[in-house]
Amino acid sequence: ELQLRIGLFGAGGVGKSTITIRFIQNIFIGDYDPTIEEEYRKIFDLNDKKISLNTLDTARGEEYYQISWRWARYSQVFVYVYSITDRDSFERIIDFHKSATKCLDGNENYRKILIGNKNDLFTKRVVKTKEGKELANKLNCKFIETSAKNVENINQLFYEASILGIGE
Ligand code: GTP
Ligand code: MG
Repeated sequence: ELQLRIGLFGAGGVGKSTITIRFIQNIFIGDYDPTIEEEYRKIFDLNDKKISLNTLDTARGEEYYQISWRWARYSQVFVYVYSITDRDSFERIIDFHKSATKCLDGNENYRKILIGNKNDLFTKRVVKTKEGKELANKLNCKFIETSAKNVENINQLFYEASILGIGE
């Protein structure tokens, strides 16, 4: 059994908790209940390996969209989440990245993945797929658009993060 720890980071209301709960329990939480800090665990098989995945669901990026030292050390893989309906949440990703880099003694090449969530709300989209891809290129990471509501790419997100984490 391989132990992995991933942290989800992003602005308030982008869907970090909803994504996590969709993956762990396969239910959709429609209400918005801001998170303090929550840890979840799920064991699953990935490429013939047993993965024990700990997911840290963080509170909204607080005032300055920072990642705390404690969370940065905890996370083997950083999952950055924005909402495709919220441009500000997209622009905040770079702040999380800068903050993580600082916590990791200037190392920009830590394991990360970029998520554009709420892909079901296409009529309210304000961040183009192309922009997400460009940011991912800049951060040197993978990019996935997800919907916790329609269960789009939710398992893929956690599988990709786990693959990154185990270094395959
Ligand atoms: P904080 O805990 O404050 O940082 O927010 P969060 O990022 O955890 O957001 P949360 O998961 O609580 O979701 C906020 C709201 O967005 C809730 O009402 C969710 O139901 C809704 N939501 C989350 N994901 C999706 C999605 O993929 N599609 C749609 N339509 N709504 C979503
Ligand atoms: Mg939350």
